Amino acid sequence: MSSTKKGRVFSGMRPTGQLHLGNYLGALENWVRLQDDYECFFCVVDWHALTTGYEETAGLKENVRQMVIDWLSAGIDPEKSVVFRQSDVKEHAELHLLLSMITPLSWLERNPTYKEQLQQLATREISTYGFLGYPVLQAADILAYKGDTVPVGEDQLPHLELSREIARRFNFLYRPVFPEPQARMNQVTLLPGLDNRKMSKSYGNYIAMAASERELGDAVTRMITDPARIRRDDPGHPEVCTVFAYHKIFSPDAVARTESECRAGKIGCVACKKNLSQTMNQFLAPIRERRQELETHPERVDEILAQGARRARAVSSQVLAEVREAMRIE
Ligand code: TRP
Repeated sequence: MSSTKKGRVFSGMRPTGQLHLGNYLGALENWVRLQDDYECFFCVVDWHALTTGYEETAGLKENVRQMVIDWLSAGIDPEKSVVFRQSDVKEHAELHLLLSMITPLSWLERNPTYKEQLQQLATREISTYGFLGYPVLQAADILAYKGDTVPVGEDQLPHLELSREIARRFNFLYRPVFPEPQARMNQVTLLPGLDNRKMSKSYGNYIAMAASERELGDAVTRMITDPARIRRDDPGHPEVCTVFAYHKIFSPDAVARTESECRAGKIGCVACKKNLSQTMNQFLAPIRERRQELETHPERVDEILAQGARRARAVSSQVLAEVREAMRIE
């Protein structure tokens, strides 16, 4: 990898199954853009999935696969970026163990995400050692590559702060080995769900990245429009309409016309939805094409992950050698 790059990006996602268009616009699109300017490591963090999902592991392997296919179809390029699975690179586990020795319990217990999740996931038994240590494993992920730039959403800021604190403590106790990784806030294009709430898997209001033309059409049909528009020629209020919010993102060239026709009651919601399906299908066409290609060559995904693991190991094994040496356990 060339040294003319601006720095080293590390990011990860838990394999929770198929991604939706909100995930694409909120995160993946940023990753795709970073690939040319940074050395990028993108990791499917299956060990992190175990912190809350250790009881239900039957679908884990397939979820990893689906996530990698979503990434690649979005335009993550395994020639430019290192795409790999966390559990394939044991250096993450070793560094997690070593960092756990120097991480005060109080830092983990006061982590707001931890407290919140304990409440939210009250039905699951997650008062485990592994779950409390989630941010230590995340710090190990990043620091095993000396990652300096971490593209994440706002919800991850407390975790990033902990990663920096752990890096600083290591550097202070032994010698400076790690950079302090900085969050790089995703440029977020906020895509509402079909019902105008936040798009979320648990609300069932999402459009999968893998949606077929038919599934997309059905989803657009379900979108909530201006409730004040009863007849086709009633004047509409695009600012409250989910379909219009989507037009702003997917049909930028036609937004002005759509808006004026809607306000004048000159275009009905059915026709307006049809236009949206059309522009979204255009947007999804290259994504679908790449997915199709991978689905007809499933062995490609295995090769990409195997190559990614080799490239990841080449870097993290060197960092671990430095860590052991700094700690005098080489
Ligand atoms: N905690 C992150 C999330 O839930 C996933 C993650 C694990 C991660 N390790 C990481 C993100 C390292 C960035 C860097 O989204």
